[in-house]
Amino acid sequence: MSNGRSFYITTPIYYPSDLPHIGHGYTTVAVDTLARWHRQAGDDTWMLTGTDEHGQKMLRAAAANGVTPQEWVDKLVEESWFPLLRTLDVANDDFIRTTQERHEERVKAFVQTLFDRGFIYAGEYAALYCVGCEEFKPEAEIVDGTGAFEGLKVCAIHSKPLELLQEKNYFFKLSEFQDRLLDLYKTVPDFVRPESARNEVVSFVRSGLKDLSISRSAFDWGITVPWDPSHVIYVWVDALLNYATAIGYGTDPDDFARRWPAYHVVGKDILRFHAVIWPAMLMAAGLDVPRGIFAHGWLLVGGEKMSKSKLTGIAPTEITDVFGSDAYRFYFLSAIAFGQDGSFSWEDLSARYQAELANGFGNLASRTVAMIERYFEGIVPPAAEYTDGDLVIQQVVADAATAADAAMERFRPDEAIGAIWTIVDALNGYITENEPWALAKDEAQRARLGTVLYTAAEGLRALTVLLSPVMPESTAKLWTALGIDARLEDQPVRDAGTWAILSPGTTVTGLTPLFPRVEQTA
Ligand code: ME8
Ligand code: MG
Repeated sequence: MSNGRSFYITTPIYYPSDLPHIGHGYTTVAVDTLARWHRQAGDDTWMLTGTDEHGQKMLRAAAANGVTPQEWVDKLVEESWFPLLRTLDVANDDFIRTTQERHEERVKAFVQTLFDRGFIYAGEYAALYCVGCEEFKPEAEIVDGTGAFEGLKVCAIHSKPLELLQEKNYFFKLSEFQDRLLDLYKTVPDFVRPESARNEVVSFVRSGLKDLSISRSAFDWGITVPWDPSHVIYVWVDALLNYATAIGYGTDPDDFARRWPAYHVVGKDILRFHAVIWPAMLMAAGLDVPRGIFAHGWLLVGGEKMSKSKLTGIAPTEITDVFGSDAYRFYFLSAIAFGQDGSFSWEDLSARYQAELANGFGNLASRTVAMIERYFEGIVPPAAEYTDGDLVIQQVVADAATAADAAMERFRPDEAIGAIWTIVDALNGYITENEPWALAKDEAQRARLGTVLYTAAEGLRALTVLLSPVMPESTAKLWTALGIDARLEDQPVRDAGTWAILSPGTTVTGLTPLFPRVEQTA
């Protein structure tokens, strides 16, 4: 049901040597929700995720475990990273691994193109490198070590000693792109979002760009530089190119033309790579820059950026085993303003699960279905005459659908969910006010009871469609209970606010609680 509009969206490709934690899960479910929304709107959608498997970090981790780097990454991807997608109910269209041949071949072709176009030269280099970041660190991110690292220079992010590297390198003429990049940020004001991220990038580029070392010769776990096999391509250049190689750059021009350019959603830790280096690489190759970069904030645990290397990592399964994947998706996407940092706590998660999912949405669904079963033998009644109060509900539904779509277009799933939640609150209030249980006692109110329950059920129909990209599992159950013939994923999400799509006469069936009570463990 494509409308011809391409929507290609990516997550970062993660380093598989870290086990997946809720931070990786956060980016991934945000991208999946945006992709599901656009797919269900009929846009020509493609969602890409994957793993970043080369570089020194991986090489060392493999050596420490006594296996080859390829064996090491194969095991981690199979045992930890594919399962993450199932745990979080992610419907990605592709998964790229940078050790795949399709990637390696196309990376070589791209780098050769930059070389042929005169954007790469050989030079001598000595600088401090952080293996955690896989990056030569700028002055501002080098700090003095403390404790065991007293007297050493350490990385401000990883708090681990930096390594002085001195070697012959190939360089990319990044410094030549300062003006073109500044021009891009100016002419496409939402190229980098949110505003705070944009400001950071603009001032970084204004302060001047240095050429970028793009090869390493001290180790060989990487893609060979095509014109000099004694070097491998710098892991970040290799990694950024995944977004182009996965859709056929260099070998499948039709697919590439159909999908490119992409939207990239990343954490703010890797904003500069995406908003500065990557568009410059594309410009140098004569390709279109991305459509946009959205940098979200960090999940904080106990006030610090959560990370596996600092041992504050929480595995997504710790949450999904107790609350389910829908609650995971809902919680992170609704509780944190997309683009800002957010603190994770079990108390907050439990409280929102109970208030918003169990008592709010879940209870609305079960009581609506139960009343249709009880008062109309499970058959959705027709609406008779609508009162002003009924028409208010129709308006709330229409407005919520419009606002949610606009928010999803702005990459604000949190605001979209907020808009959709006005339906939950309005319908719960509507049922309380109209007291269907009282109407049911009076035969003269039979038509009115029908109108009230039709209104509740039809509102629930719209809610189910609008929430399906966020919570695919519970909405699928609810859709089945509502007894509608057409498939949920075929319901055009941009038309969800149109009234009277649910046909009277449809048979509803019993609904087990969508969000069952959770035993408190903590
Ligand atoms: O940087 N809060 O991979 P990576 C929110 N391979 N998001 C978090 C997070 C947190 N505490 N911790 C991690 C790399 N993330 C490179 C990327 S892309 C061409 C190459 C998420 O495994 C967030 O999306 O370190 C962040 O940008 C990403 O994981 C970093 O993953
Ligand atoms: Mg990282």
